[in-house]
Amino acid sequence: MYATLLSTLENGILTITINRPDKLNALNKQVFTDLNAVLDEIYSNPEIKSVIITGSGQKAFVAGADISEFSSFTREQSMALAKGGQDTFLRIENAPKPILGCINGFALGGGCELAMSCHFRIASDNAKFGQPEVNLGLIPGYGGTQRLVQLIGKGRALELLMSAGMIDANTALQYGLVNYVVPQEELLAKAKSILEVINSKAPVAVGKCIEAANAVFDETKNGYAVEVNGFGDCFDTADMKEGTTAFLEKRKAVFTGK
Ligand code: COA
Repeated sequence: MYATLLSTLENGILTITINRPDKLNALNKQVFTDLNAVLDEIYSNPEIKSVIITGSGQKAFVAGADISEFSSFTREQSMALAKGGQDTFLRIENAPKPILGCINGFALGGGCELAMSCHFRIASDNAKFGQPEVNLGLIPGYGGTQRLVQLIGKGRALELLMSAGMIDANTALQYGLVNYVVPQEELLAKAKSILEVINSKAPVAVGKCIEAANAVFDETKNGYAVEVNGFGDCFDTADMKEGTTAFLEKRKAVFTGK
């Protein structure tokens, strides 16, 4: 049980719902505490194969960091807040299991940053994305300047960052920020159907895909070396033996995660 999150585990898919609908699911200190606790569970519980992150209600995914917590901060406190948010979102990005952002409405500021830290995103047709921090005399602090450039390119990202503009779901689709746009009532079903396919694959190999793809954006790593190591790690698994044997025997592989 979490104060600001709902979580349900079904068929290996953990659905996390940010649950502060009266504040459009804004990210306050408690949400970050709860997100870190649920991330501990995601990293450690083998029954969780993949994760959906969504927002409560039909209006917002997350409308940003909770602005009401900002006003009394010193420079040092503001930097600690940003670093803490970045660390949490890096744990999402580096999770060894797929985390899918299900964007059910406004994804603004920290909400857009949370969405972008997920491995990929799908959106309902009412979703809106933006980094409106310059309206507040601020810039994004939870990785938004970095991931927006990575995901949609520098020109589009800088226009959004500097203008505080918002884009709708279909523009997000065209920009490559989301993989699919569906009617709101179909959003979770679509997410589950995508994750059921991924959950049927070899879990170690799935985790290694995430690690290698993340290395593209990590200056401290050589992505090609990460790929070679991951390839080797997969060779050590029983699932690799099962997958290759099943192919040769013309049957469906049954993976155990070992
Ligand atoms: N932080 C704190 N509270 C927030 C919030 C945020 N980021 N976003 C929305 N809320 C609160 C509102 O203050 C309001 O609370 P109240 O009912 O106690 O007054 C409630 O959520 C509903 O929001 P409201 O603004 O009345 O809804 P709306 O439909 O008129 O507008 C938005 C929706 C998303 C356009 C508007 O809420 C908004 O611009 N939010 C801030 C977005 C932002 O700047 N995010 C970046 C933060 S760094």
